[in-house]
Amino acid sequence: MIERKGKGLEGGLTNYGDPAFAAYLRRSFARSMGYSRELLSKPVVGIAQTASGFNNCHRGVPDLVEAVKRGVLAAGALPLDFPVISLGEVFLSPTSMMYRNLMAMAAEEMIRAQPMDAVVLIGGCDKTLPALVMGAASAGKPAIALATGPMMTSKYRGERLGACTDCRRFWANYRAGRIDADEIETVEGRLATTAGTCAVMGTASTMAILLEVMGLMLPGTAAIPAVHADRLRAAEATGRAAVELIGSDRTIDRVVTQASIDNAMRALLAVSGSTNAVVHLAAIAGRLGLKLDLNRLNALSDETPVLVDLKPTGEGYMEDFFAAGGVGALLRRMSARFDLEARTVTGDTLADWVPPHDDFIDSAVIRPADNPVSDKGGLVALYGSLAPKGAILKRAAADERLFETTARAVVFDSLEDLSNRIDDPNLDVAPEDALVLRNAGPKACGMPEAGYLPIPKKLAAAGVKDMLRLSDARMSGTAFGTIVLHIAPEAADGGPLSLVETGDRIRLSVRERRLDLLVDQETLEKRRARRVTPAPAPVRGWAQLYHGHVLQADEGCDLDFLRHASALA
Ligand code: FES
Repeated sequence: MIERKGKGLEGGLTNYGDPAFAAYLRRSFARSMGYSRELLSKPVVGIAQTASGFNNCHRGVPDLVEAVKRGVLAAGALPLDFPVISLGEVFLSPTSMMYRNLMAMAAEEMIRAQPMDAVVLIGGCDKTLPALVMGAASAGKPAIALATGPMMTSKYRGERLGACTDCRRFWANYRAGRIDADEIETVEGRLATTAGTCAVMGTASTMAILLEVMGLMLPGTAAIPAVHADRLRAAEATGRAAVELIGSDRTIDRVVTQASIDNAMRALLAVSGSTNAVVHLAAIAGRLGLKLDLNRLNALSDETPVLVDLKPTGEGYMEDFFAAGGVGALLRRMSARFDLEARTVTGDTLADWVPPHDDFIDSAVIRPADNPVSDKGGLVALYGSLAPKGAILKRAAADERLFETTARAVVFDSLEDLSNRIDDPNLDVAPEDALVLRNAGPKACGMPEAGYLPIPKKLAAAGVKDMLRLSDARMSGTAFGTIVLHIAPEAADGGPLSLVETGDRIRLSVRERRLDLLVDQETLEKRRARRVTPAPAPVRGWAQLYHGHVLQADEGCDLDFLRHASALA
């Protein structure tokens, strides 16, 4: 049993102008929950729980909450779970991204307002872990994250299937007429068959891995499948670890340093992770007065080998990554490249989390550094006249033949315009063109995962599988293609993307890290002068607040007033 270090239920008293009365009233109401007086006098570990009927990925959260509670009780504190907004990726309109900051605000305020001495953050589906970490970082209480874990795969005609790279592959086949309606319906029932997050190296998996590398999650826990018994053991251990945090200085702002952000970028590159992680990492850094520098990302990308080749870029699934050794194996294989002095939530340095041997690692899945999948990282940032504040390309998921190219732009003015015209048989488009989508950025519509523009039906039917595609949108971490994303500033914020016209030439050079619009300045100024006024801003509620304060992708799409105090001065 621990000595009492936290304030327990006596912390953060409701203000009646009489603290003793407030404590007495709270105790008496807490007694109605059926806890003994002894338990109610213990330090409190809050458990931010995110189960929701609208979040299939979090179906296992109630079991995790119970296991965390076991660990907390065994270590001598009182566990109290509380609900936080949950974001099920495919159940939100217009996009879950628009609600990440709302979830972060809800988490921050509830962690701060309620009497807890430490908090366990249970998240998984794409936006949930970043949101919880952003909120807890700002709330300033000791916190530890716990992932829901990834789904297991299923099978169709002997072939492994897992959400959601295979969803896209089969849908592309259906669009191109290679499979019929019956077959796509059968596949629909085999893609997501267990609790947990997407089975590939999508955003959820990437963020869980990054948080472990940043020292915010217990070692060895990020990749455990959602339905594996080890996942429950990890939850119990996380509960115990949360009790250890009580009274410590291990708040997120003390654990995460610029070295941790660098380590996270390294890991992101080495696992060829989701482009979305760049946005979330920038937002987390911004909460801490740190920075995710895209030029630094490029420098690291040039010297960080890709060691893990899961879908969407390779063949494996997260259950393979777990069985191959998980993040511990990655730390071991990359130990010379990580800053091992970085702190962790357990009080150890990252060096303490590096396994002493590598004989447990399956090298077919997690390669040694001298035999990588690729000797360069999976992501690059681009700058240029079309992206003054940057853009992102997942080169590992792209067609190398398009890396140095000048293409004719075929512009879609909005998501609606895209869906109205992309499959029009009369659309003037050729395989060597660049499809350009604008007004899909954070201000315009919350930055949905619309950057994976479909190949126009007539080209898909003719066998075209990839084209250069550009937008101010994001892309699912489970998608692939030669796709430039996060162009900043976005069109709706006055970025040069708003001035592109069909027929313009656009130059992409991955070698030079450039993305340029080859139109002279005078022409652009004339276009700017006659540009139509943007759509009116929303007039109420969250949409109004979001639209008025959301930052661009290079700053993580956080709200300007939620960043670290140093950015608000
Ligand atoms: Fe939840 Fe992919 S839909 S992680």
